[in-house]
Amino acid sequence: MKYLIEPNDLSLSETERILSLAQSIMKEPRKFAQVCRGKLMANLFYEPSTRTRFSFEAAMLRLGGNVMNLSDISTSSHTKGESMADTIKTISSYSDLIVMRHPEAGTPKKSIPHSLVPIINAGDGPNHHPTQTLTDLLTIKDIKGHISNQTVAFCGDLLYGRTVHSLVKALSRYDHMKFIFISPEELKIPHYIKEYIDENSYVETHSLEEVMDQIDILYVTRVQGERFENIEEYNRLKDTYIIDPPKLEKAKEDMIIMHPLPRVNEIDTRVDEDKRAVYFNQVRYGMYVRMALIADFVGDEPC
Ligand code: CP
Repeated sequence: MKYLIEPNDLSLSETERILSLAQSIMKEPRKFAQVCRGKLMANLFYEPSTRTRFSFEAAMLRLGGNVMNLSDISTSSHTKGESMADTIKTISSYSDLIVMRHPEAGTPKKSIPHSLVPIINAGDGPNHHPTQTLTDLLTIKDIKGHISNQTVAFCGDLLYGRTVHSLVKALSRYDHMKFIFISPEELKIPHYIKEYIDENSYVETHSLEEVMDQIDILYVTRVQGERFENIEEYNRLKDTYIIDPPKLEKAKEDMIIMHPLPRVNEIDTRVDEDKRAVYFNQVRYGMYVRMALIADFVGDEPC
């Protein structure tokens, strides 16, 4: 049974194949308009989402399939005490593919043995978000032309930001990558993520200004308020980095600014007009790469 729980569940060659398929779909979407005809995807979202849920839904509909959504858990038998195992056995009896977001790390993985159909993790707590990673890789590949040989700076909440964890792990398989981790002391990247990369390939700093001129890809993240137990700590840290036009004066002309979104304050809206800001392009790449993933998992050959 296929599943995608963390980015390296796909080998590097499988990842490259999905990215290439996404680029083919972008060029000729009509060719793929029926590859999931008759297929039904269940979206189980136990945590809020705009992009991931809608882009999965848009992707399946654009492939000719249909979608069932659970986005308000108060309407499900979960509230009567039903176990996740029984929910998964039930939903997988109706569907061809399950997409799950859950606030607890590990829940999508634990669901695999109970499912009759493939499961895709749409974000599990602070752990992983593999389809955001595919989105990010496609964005880099399509805009920069290649993924290897780049200096990628991650800025913001590197402790709780699951998109950062997944992307670092995925980029660790590409050649000649350099990583810069920019965060306050309290939100440093976890050791278990740094273990994926060579200790000579990264630096950690609190200062965005001192590294700005070295960066090829600036990946900005929101401070994840929902993961804090102490609201005062969140309020103290949330605006540590705010990217604005003066800060970008030292940046390379061909640097790209990425963000998985949602954005709160960490990128000034004036930056949206900068040609280096690609975070709304990223949103659209996310739909195409999810089309490629769904087609690969449950689709028929294109006509
Ligand atoms: N990037 C992302 O996961 O956005 P949502 O939380 O809106 O799905």
